[in-house]
Amino acid sequence: MKPRKITDRVLALGAVDWDRRLFDSLIPLPDGTSYNAYLVQGSEKTVLLDTVDPAMTDVLLAQLKDVARLDYIVAHHAEQDHSGSIPCVLAKYPQAKVVASPQCITMLQDLLLIPPDKFLKAEDGQTLSLGDKTLEFVHTPWVHWPETMVTYLREDRVLFSCDFFGSHIAASDLYVEDEGRVYESAKRYFAEIMMPFASVIKKNLDKVKARPIEIIAPSHGQVHRRPAFIINAYEEWISDTPKNMVVIPYVSMHGSTAAMVDRLVTALASRDVSVQQFNLADSDVGKLAMSLVDAATIVLAAPTVHAGGHPAVLYAALLANALRPKAKFASIIGSYSWNTKIVAQIAGLIPNLKVEVLSPVIIKGFPKPADLEAIDRLAETIAERHRGLGLMS
Ligand code: FEO
Repeated sequence: MKPRKITDRVLALGAVDWDRRLFDSLIPLPDGTSYNAYLVQGSEKTVLLDTVDPAMTDVLLAQLKDVARLDYIVAHHAEQDHSGSIPCVLAKYPQAKVVASPQCITMLQDLLLIPPDKFLKAEDGQTLSLGDKTLEFVHTPWVHWPETMVTYLREDRVLFSCDFFGSHIAASDLYVEDEGRVYESAKRYFAEIMMPFASVIKKNLDKVKARPIEIIAPSHGQVHRRPAFIINAYEEWISDTPKNMVVIPYVSMHGSTAAMVDRLVTALASRDVSVQQFNLADSDVGKLAMSLVDAATIVLAAPTVHAGGHPAVLYAALLANALRPKAKFASIIGSYSWNTKIVAQIAGLIPNLKVEVLSPVIIKGFPKPADLEAIDRLAETIAERHRGLGLMS
């Protein structure tokens, strides 16, 4: 992709990674991703904002072919998908300084072995004049690492937001054209990396919203010409109020736990509670993470393997614990054959969830009428709790 103009002397650079299917060896990328960099040419100084993943350094260097001088490289974030090509860019432009938050400077020295004399510190609120254009640096800690910041280009009212407001989408269109598609992808992105920091993201959102913004240029996915779309979406996702929804990550070995899940889904649906169930034997963990953005209740459903929970459900419990969703209630259901310690085991895996634990339903063998009645009672309790929160009309 050739450099593309966003505003006068503001260019979109970067690489589209159509084929990448996994990030951090953890996060599925069904739509690929992009690593966006931006070039701002002031009347006196030229700056590159972020770089690209090291695997695609050549793409960025080709885009910089006709750029004779670079004065600054702004590093919003030390994670290598944005910072990883900085050493190669510095090799091409040895006079350039890397502008970053104090914590990011330390991290870039640790992660990329960039010498200390290459850096210029960007304090929160500090500005950098490029001549007729002014960059303002805004610290946005924990979006999603402790060192993260964004840059506001005052004259053009462009916010360069790095991971904030990003989405893993590979696309040839520079701008968001299909908001429905981007909503889905940005929500997946929020769920997977931003959700654990929702409360601090709220503060950072208020901070950046205080500026008049006409364009949001993130470092993944497409550029927003209608900032209200993605800002409103973030407001919804960081809200502490969940939806009238139960998420059920489950696995079943011989059908007993699956029969319990079927009964619970039916019982909840008949009480007007929405359900999303995920068979962990064949599920996209990104979809599960997205459902956790909204769910008021999480019910983990697992058979017992020896005395403990099935490993797939233990993984889901660890994932939920790491993502710290806003859910208010949780429970466990499942079947065992001769012995089980599953409740204590799973409870020990989810200390981060600030939930009321509703009575688990753990049964021996295939569910019998009394077991199914216990499932119905759990469904009724969930519906009552949702009503109590005002989630149901
Ligand atoms: Fe896109 Fe946190 O790096």
